[in-house]
Amino acid sequence: MQAKIGIINVSDRASRGEYEDIPGKAIRATLGEYLTSPWEAVYTVIPDEQDQIEATLARMADEDGCCLIVTSGGTGPAPRDVTPEATEAVCEKMLPGFGEQMRAVSLQYVPTAILSRQTAGIRGQTLIINLPGSPKAIRECLDAIFAAVPYCVDLIGGPRLETDPAVIKAFRPKGK
Ligand code: MTE
Repeated sequence: MQAKIGIINVSDRASRGEYEDIPGKAIRATLGEYLTSPWEAVYTVIPDEQDQIEATLARMADEDGCCLIVTSGGTGPAPRDVTPEATEAVCEKMLPGFGEQMRAVSLQYVPTAILSRQTAGIRGQTLIINLPGSPKAIRECLDAIFAAVPYCVDLIGGPRLETDPAVIKAFRPKGK
């Protein structure tokens, strides 16, 4: 089965075309380095509007059948940062360990990592993960958590994601 992975750049300015979508490209390039099993990206840029974020997450999960959706941006403390709220609103189950691990690792790079409220959760058969908006943060955060992503996708009934162990080694408990 060809895995579908949603990539959502949440950014008012990128959605108006004022910025090039560098975060979306960074996520796509990083996943391209990690994954050796076939996958295709379902991809969009939207403004920091909670109802639009929720609708896009729900569409990618329920209609497009994405096993994984990665968002970038809108995780901080500013008034229009609402990506974690939208994520919680559409998920049945939260996985706070992803946010904890990303913040723990990110704090080794920048003290302002503490400002990110990034989280993760499950909607149906889809794992949703929030990343901050900067391309540097995207790589740092994905490197911090991706080893656990393939097994999580297995557990929710998704396709088997294989990674290049020279780049990131997927961890599956013995015998799985
Ligand atoms: N995490 C990592 N790994 N590297 C970073 O540079 N920047 C932080 C934080 N997390 C950063 C990081 C900053 S400055 C902010 S404001 C928050 O993420 C939220 O970013 P966002 O609003 O783009 O989601």
